[in-house]
Amino acid sequence: MQISVIGAGYVGLTTAACLADIGHQVLCADSDPEKLEKLNAGRLPFFEPHLDLLVKRNMAAGRLQFTSPEVAIEQGSAIFICVGTPPLENGEADLSAIESVARTIASTANGYRLVIEKSTVPVQTAKRLWKHLSIYNSNGIDFDVVSNPEFLREGSAVGDFFHPDRIVIGAESPRAIAMMKEIYRPVLQSAYTCPVHSQCPPAHEIPLIVTDTNSAELVKHASNSFLAMKISFINLVADACEAVGADIAKVAEGIGSDRRIGKSFLNPGIGFGGFCFPKDLQAFVRIGEKLGCDFSLLKEVEKINLRRAEQFVAKVKRELWVLRGKTLAVWGLAFKPDTDDVRFAPALNIIRRLLAEGARIRAYDPHAMQKAKDELPEITYCLSHYEAAQHADAILVLTEWDEFRRLKWDLLAKSVAHPLLIDGRNLYSADEVTANGFQYVCIGKEPSEVRYEHLQGGGDREPVPLRIAPPTPASHTVPVQLTP
Ligand code: UGA
Repeated sequence: MQISVIGAGYVGLTTAACLADIGHQVLCADSDPEKLEKLNAGRLPFFEPHLDLLVKRNMAAGRLQFTSPEVAIEQGSAIFICVGTPPLENGEADLSAIESVARTIASTANGYRLVIEKSTVPVQTAKRLWKHLSIYNSNGIDFDVVSNPEFLREGSAVGDFFHPDRIVIGAESPRAIAMMKEIYRPVLQSAYTCPVHSQCPPAHEIPLIVTDTNSAELVKHASNSFLAMKISFINLVADACEAVGADIAKVAEGIGSDRRIGKSFLNPGIGFGGFCFPKDLQAFVRIGEKLGCDFSLLKEVEKINLRRAEQFVAKVKRELWVLRGKTLAVWGLAFKPDTDDVRFAPALNIIRRLLAEGARIRAYDPHAMQKAKDELPEITYCLSHYEAAQHADAILVLTEWDEFRRLKWDLLAKSVAHPLLIDGRNLYSADEVTANGFQYVCIGKEPSEVRYEHLQGGGDREPVPLRIAPPTPASHTVPVQLTP
């Protein structure tokens, strides 16, 4: 099938490359000529595991091409709208990009078009889209509008496309439903060998949920809001654990072992970020207000999340007292691992608060430094997490990258000014950290002091006194390069 995808962002580009990989002819369009030029040269505008491989091999096979929205709309019989819906100041989604694509479709298309809304939109947008297409339909084309929400997580989007928990189709016509089933046939039948082998679950039938467009749109906002609610809930429980000296890991295990609740999304931390949960939650709250529904539950979810950065900074201050002049190593800037995305990243929010307190920041992230630098040029970017730790009064773990899990403790101990690890993602066991001479503070557990009997030299060793760090050597900003 000749498919067009409008918007080459995280969702659009992943969707386009994956649709091409399952055998469709795909035109991926973007209104940004610079982005198109990059893509045509085989360079991706962001980091997403496995996506570069998929883009390259489908471009080489002639199944994936990049072009302007006008050309894509003229040629595609099925058009996926994957443009951004950023938040307006009042929290509502800005639908101007969707509206603009609708007008281009109405004025450019020369035959039947299946218009598939994949961008995250408020309920009733598909109906609005249908009306708008009808109004501007200068060529008298026949069309259907379908809502097909995406559930792709950044960092594992390619695997999520090929192995979804479900596919949701909101459609009002049998023709549209039949076309959608045809588009997703290889995925629905699990009849396709996914290029992300390590994530390939055994073949099974993927649930296909066919419904009206309003219901499909609600599935998306309700799913993201529910997941956000789970995170804020576990963060509240983590606070209770800290207050009484309980262990959040055990509590989460106890809660999550109930299959009705489930174990996922019960990791406490510094709050959820990214370009989906914070904005979708806000947008859903606004939708509730407009519909006259009481969504105060979701407002609380948001408030709890906003407090997380403040609480984390309070933890740092509890340990270091005054932050002015202190050097803090920040490990991780992206809003989650395996992405270079720093939009609404809790790490950036925390760094801004630490800077306001007068702290000096030495940061490292395996992929997100280039993007972070655009937002926070005033901090020092380092080439490794070890380099970031040099002369640090504390190490702050803000994103759970895999490479932070296994540490050369000796090297670290020699680098820091003071052996204190404050972990916003609960990456380590207190035993491991304290046995290596570091004081450990994490989320939802009691802080752990150094266990000197485990250190080399055992009980002879004196407790390390809190000392004032020597001034950081002429802080150097390393050139940051985009990782391939
Ligand atoms: C989320 C959803 O998971 C996807 O299903 C959805 O398609 C996507 O939004 C979207 O709407 O486009 P994403 O934002 O990429 O995906 O990342 P998640 O893995 O959901 O994580 C979101 C945030 O929650 C991150 O900051 C993460 O650190 C945080 N989180 C997640 C926790 O703090 N604790 C957890 O237990 C899980």
